[in-house]
Amino acid sequence: MINIGILTISDKGSKGQRADKSGEAVRECVSSIDSTVVKYEIIPDEKDIIAATLCEWSDSGKADVILTSGGTGLSKRDVTPEATLSVIERSVPGIVEAMRAKSLEKSPTAMLSRAVAGQRGQCLIINLPGSPKAVRECLEVILPAIPHAVEIIKGEVTEHSFQDAGIH
Ligand code: MTE
Repeated sequence: MINIGILTISDKGSKGQRADKSGEAVRECVSSIDSTVVKYEIIPDEKDIIAATLCEWSDSGKADVILTSGGTGLSKRDVTPEATLSVIERSVPGIVEAMRAKSLEKSPTAMLSRAVAGQRGQCLIINLPGSPKAVRECLEVILPAIPHAVEIIKGEVTEHSFQDAGIH
């Protein structure tokens, strides 16, 4: 069972001026893997608030994976990647490379997301773009790899489970 934190980053959403359709899309998509949503919040596009929330959720050990949505684009207020880069200890570029490359086949604008992914302690933090459509397209690509990523991060993978997964 993977403990998931869903963090929606939106100025309007945090003021209650917009329904959080992206957060709902994340929740719907992660229900397809063996997971439970342990944390959920909508916060404004403020680097310090985003970084503090990521630290709190990962350092408490409550979330194995934090999926953020929004604030990854090119507008002045988009600071989610900068906030994430300020707290991760190791980058995991393959996740966002795959996300952009695969979903680019569906949406030409996929290249406009500056999303990053990385590890903080035993927590994997992944940025997703903000639209519900983008959330679905990106999670479709990366979700199949998440359970194995969490196993490795938590040190639960043994030689046998590598072999069982067909990895040598
Ligand atoms: N990725 C996918 N798969 N599908 C999309 O429709 N939209 C893009 C991009 N990534 C999109 C996508 C658009 S239009 C923007 S502006 C950027 O994500 C950044 O979005 P954000 O600022 O809401 O995070």
